[in-house]
Amino acid sequence: EIISMPLPSSGGILLAQMLKMSSFENLQKYQQNSTQAVQIMVEAERRAFADRAEYMGDPGFINDKTSYLISDEYLKNRWKSFSFSNATPSSKVGEIILQPKESTETTHISVIDKDGNAAAVTTTLNGLYGSKVVVSGAGFFLNNEMDDFSIKPGVPNMFGAVGGKANEIQPRKRMLSSMTPTIVMRKGKPFMVVGTPGGTTIPTSVFQSVVNVIDFKMNANLAVNSPKFHHQWLPESVAFEKNFPEYTIKNLENLGYKSERWEQLGRTEMILVDENGTIHAVADGRGDDSVAVE
Ligand code: DON
Repeated sequence: EIISMPLPSSGGILLAQMLKMSSFENLQKYQQNSTQAVQIMVEAERRAFADRAEYMGDPGFINDKTSYLISDEYLKNRWKSFSFSNATPSSKVGEIILQPKESTETTHISVIDKDGNAAAVTTTLNGLYGSKVVVSGAGFFLNNEMDDFSIKPGVPNMFGAVGGKANEIQPRKRMLSSMTPTIVMRKGKPFMVVGTPGGTTIPTSVFQSVVNVIDFKMNANLAVNSPKFHHQWLPESVAFEKNFPEYTIKNLENLGYKSERWEQLGRTEMILVDENGTIHAVADGRGDDSVAVE
C-alpha cells in the first residue's frame, strides 16, 4: 500500500504509474540494473512523464484524472506498446514538445518515531536559492516556483519538464510539482519512509528506491546508494549515473536507447522498518545528508 503526494504534485501519480507498469513485466525476475530491468523501468518512466505533460496540473483548475491514470485498465493499455526488442520512441507515447536544462534546490526529510508514526516531508525553493530574495528579518528565501508552471506549450522549465494546458499559469492556480514524499505500508503499518530532492528526477529516484527494496530485495543502504538512471519522456535520452554499469548501457544503446552520463541522481533519504521492528535509516551518500537518532 503506497501513500504519496497527490496533485498538484505529479510525484504520487507518477510513482503509482511506474510501479504498476513495471509490475506487468514481473520485475522481480530480473537483476537490478540489468538491461531488461532498466528497459522496463525506463519505459514506465517514459509513459508516466508523457502523461505528466498532458494531464497533470492543479486539480482546482483541471479535470483531475488521477484514478483513471493509475487504473489497471488504463495502464495495461498504455503498456501494450512496450517491447524488449527496442526502445519505444517518445513520439509514440505522447505529443512531442521541446528540450531541457537543469539546476536544483529542494530538501527531503524521512521521519519515524518510537511508536511507529511516520512522516515524509519534501519542501522546495525550486532553483538554487529560489528567487535569491531573503525575507528581511525572517531569514528565509522566497522560492521561484513559477518555474514549475508550463509557461507555454512545449517550453521546458529548468528541469526540462514540458506541459500544456493542464499546467498553464492562471490566477490562484498551484503549479505542478514532482515532489514524491512517500510512505509504503505493510499490513497497515509504515514499512518504508522515502523521498528526495531532484526536480523531475524525484519520482524516478523514489520509484527505483522502492523497487530496489521490494523487487530486488536490497537493504536500505544499497537501495539508496546503488547507481540510478532517469528518463522523463522528453528529452528522448536516458540519464545514467556515472558509476552505472557500462555493460547495461551498451546493451540498451544497441536497442536504440540514447544515453547521457550524469554526476548524480537525487539524494534519497530512506527509513525501513524490518519484520522485527528494527529501524534502518539511510542518508544518501551522494550529498552531505545525515541520519539522526533522538
Ligand atoms: O516541486 C518540484 O517539482 C520542484 N520545485 C523541485 C525542485 C527540486 O527538487 C530541486 N532540488 N533539487
